[in-house]
Amino acid sequence: MSSHRTPLGLAAALAVALSATLLPAVPAGAAVGIENTSHSQIAAVLAVPSAQRGITRDPSSTQVFVNKNYPLKPSRFAPKTTAVSKSGVRLQPQAASAFTKMAKAAARDGVRIVPVSGYRSYARQAELFARYTKLYGKSYASRISAVPGTSEHQTGLAIDVGNANSACGLQECFARTPVGQWVAKHGSKYGFIIRYPKGQEAVTGYAYEPWHLRYLGTATAKSYKSSGAASLEAYYGVAGAKRPGGGISTAPGTATTTANLNLRSGAGTGHKVLMTIPKGKSVKLTGAKSSGWYKVSYASRTGWVSGTYLRNISLPKSSAPKAAKSAKTTANLNLRSGAGTGHRILVTIPKGKKVAITGASKSGWYPVKYAGISGWASATYLR
Ligand code: DAL
Ligand code: ZN
Repeated sequence: MSSHRTPLGLAAALAVALSATLLPAVPAGAAVGIENTSHSQIAAVLAVPSAQRGITRDPSSTQVFVNKNYPLKPSRFAPKTTAVSKSGVRLQPQAASAFTKMAKAAARDGVRIVPVSGYRSYARQAELFARYTKLYGKSYASRISAVPGTSEHQTGLAIDVGNANSACGLQECFARTPVGQWVAKHGSKYGFIIRYPKGQEAVTGYAYEPWHLRYLGTATAKSYKSSGAASLEAYYGVAGAKRPGGGISTAPGTATTTANLNLRSGAGTGHKVLMTIPKGKSVKLTGAKSSGWYKVSYASRTGWVSGTYLRNISLPKSSAPKAAKSAKTTANLNLRSGAGTGHRILVTIPKGKKVAITGASKSGWYPVKYAGISGWASATYLR
């Protein structure tokens, strides 16, 4: 299990230290690679109805489209910038005034949006990318940081935001913080979108960054949001992530709904409807499957949907280990009936004992078996 725990442990440890230097922590699931995807799946992703909307490469336009396949031209482009909210963070003037307006609106709702990183020069981006490469290796660095000349930050139209208390700074859980929730809901009214959405890494080229806002102006941002497109790449119908084999693919562990689809409490139409997922949305596959039904997560809810209305089904690589893995307890450790200290203690496992890990972790807890007893143990005390 060390291969699973190391990146998560690293993420937690580095998050605090790195947020101060504007380096995001390792996203959860970092160890999961990108699967090979068939050409038909690639075609399905590209065949978005909004294809041919047309993109601009003009770096001085607020509409400029930038990703791994569409680098900045010229690569050392430097925009005119101005400071936002009297901070050291700078943006192109239009984006800066939109940000100020947005921050004021959020403040009226009692939410303080803190600017963390805006315009970054080619040289600054090079520094950051080099730092990541040193920390994690180039292939991993490329998943969380742009190569200089390909970052939206260099356009002066992207800004990373945070909470006043730095909660979940540059981490996935930022999405659940007040600022994360506020910007996801209201950002488009001020011209900002969440540029690297969850589950779209194989398309955008980057892991989920709920803190990275891209200014597109209110018209485009609102149009993007109301289109329901899963990514800006999908909205424009252009290729995103550069993959060794070329082309783009759906993210592993996701599927796309082909109709407005009921999310149910169980695998079958006899179960209660929890919500209706709109057509064309990307859902996260948990890996569980039962007679044509899939267990999925969407909009932070988990339930079952019929596989008939899913396409591009790409099951997660390893939602549960095939063979039981093992770990050692680093303290006398309570084995509990559920994943949390609120659950009943079944037995206390002495320190230094070997336990079998029987499945995937859940919010920092592992399902384990010890002396014939199955239960849950905190990952904190397992090595
Ligand atoms: N973290 C984003 C992808 C950037 O470096 O631009
Ligand atoms: Zn960013």
